[in-house]
Amino acid sequence: QDLNQPYRTGYHFQPPSNWMNDPNGPMVYKGIYHLFYQYNPYGAVWDVRIVWGHSTSLDLVNWTPQPPAFSPSQPSDINGCWSGSVTILPNGTPVILYTGIDQNKSQVQNVAVPVNISDPYLREWSKSPANPLMAPNAVNGINPDRFRDPTTAWIGHDGEWRVIVGSSTDDRRGLAVLYKSRDFFNWTQATKPLHHEELTGMWECPDFFPVSITGTEGLETSSSGEVKHVLKMSLIETLHDYYTIGCYDREKDVYVPDHGFVQDGSAPRLDYGKFYASKAFYDDVKKRRILWGWVNESSPAKDDIEKGWSGLQSFPRKIWLGESGNELLQWPIEEIETLRETQVNWYNKVLKAGSTIQVHGVTAAQADVDVSFKVKDLEKADVIEPSWTDPQKICSEEDLSVKSGLGPFGLMVLASNDMEEYTSVYFRIFKSNDTKYVVLMCSDQSRSSLNEENDKATFGAFVAIDPSHETLSLRTLIDHSIVESYGGGGKVCVTSRVYPKLAIGEKANLFVFNKGTQSVDVLSLSAWSLKSAQINGETVSPFSE
Ligand code: FRU
Repeated sequence: QDLNQPYRTGYHFQPPSNWMNDPNGPMVYKGIYHLFYQYNPYGAVWDVRIVWGHSTSLDLVNWTPQPPAFSPSQPSDINGCWSGSVTILPNGTPVILYTGIDQNKSQVQNVAVPVNISDPYLREWSKSPANPLMAPNAVNGINPDRFRDPTTAWIGHDGEWRVIVGSSTDDRRGLAVLYKSRDFFNWTQATKPLHHEELTGMWECPDFFPVSITGTEGLETSSSGEVKHVLKMSLIETLHDYYTIGCYDREKDVYVPDHGFVQDGSAPRLDYGKFYASKAFYDDVKKRRILWGWVNESSPAKDDIEKGWSGLQSFPRKIWLGESGNELLQWPIEEIETLRETQVNWYNKVLKAGSTIQVHGVTAAQADVDVSFKVKDLEKADVIEPSWTDPQKICSEEDLSVKSGLGPFGLMVLASNDMEEYTSVYFRIFKSNDTKYVVLMCSDQSRSSLNEENDKATFGAFVAIDPSHETLSLRTLIDHSIVESYGGGGKVCVTSRVYPKLAIGEKANLFVFNKGTQSVDVLSLSAWSLKSAQINGETVSPFSE
């Protein structure tokens, strides 16, 4: 590997070079997985005339590049082919709905179909001469700058297709505009949106899908019956992906979340770090729903231009409804195990107060770590201040990290030999006044690099687990410049981008630490070296520097 490219990843999806943003139209077709993505073939920064990059895979781990599926070419997309989704029609044919930027710079929705459905790689796509299928106009009152990112379509109670498109009003009401069609080509706008929320601003890349209330298996997007529905929106105002779980009333064609969103500001996020414009698809081969999300850089654009690329996709995550019915759970797809090599195991190790223990024997720059903690002296937990309602803020308070009894404890990843650099992913436990416990999970990038020009914001979230009954688990995927962490068995995900100058390749280390004043047990720890996947023609060395 190029010595000047220490931040290329070993098993995260990225094109060989240039800019990538949103995942588009993920699907499985004739046993082949497809991922399209917003791609600028001309450079490492975003460009309005973006195209649909395309890659295929047999296992969602190793990827083969394909030519871009399509680029701006007709009046309805001449200024850009923006995000969209695939719908598999009942006859098995995949169809893409995507946003075009038309000759007037208006956002419109277009359709593209495969030229040859017997080609499992779907290398050629043709745009319908009927495009655009949906356009903002004087009657529907939609702002031509805020009308984009069609979802996978689903079939409603009357057998007709439905799809939603993200939008917002001038006074910041976020909208999931609903369209209906009998034939997938002629679409009419419904009188009411599927859902809206005041004061949320533009909803980019909405996603709407059913989840089973009885198991972890995924459901096809049109499934009905004993299900809940998830509506996800990417808020342009915060650049975060939020979701609600609720009921889709098929007769009225409206979605009602179980808990509010703006009303109480409580909508959970799919990830509390860098993760945006995500999209899920149903994998009928393994009966699961899989989520992809765009993980952008935390470096200045000049660095992206210099290294010649920008943007990763998260490792694909299986996603399902947790038993509480209130939250989604996420977990790296099982195929990651095909990359596992050397394994290190610990059992029942006491992490004394103030200790830092190195995990030897794995390639620390490219690893999968799964650790579970048990805390005995819970009564030693500090009482949380009632005003500490913002977990990211608590995680960012430096002086807290030395005082408390319970934690911080967790992992230090991508650590340099003399600890000049490290990223720490950890828990802290507090007591709340009613004798319940509050578990905080943080990912602290503040010491991740000697390069001060990067965004090193700390991330954090509360994890809804009770440490008096449950173990605290942390799974972290480390891959050179990305750290993807799953807390509490996938209740909370936090993804960060880091750019160590010293802790690269063989010079990266992995530690377990406990900076609290009480000891904590590591019930078990497994760490694996991961070998490199083939990502679009490239195989990075785990030791690359
Ligand atoms: C989200 C987004 C989408 C748009 C695309 C353009 O990151 O802004 O709303 O379709 O990116 O690349």
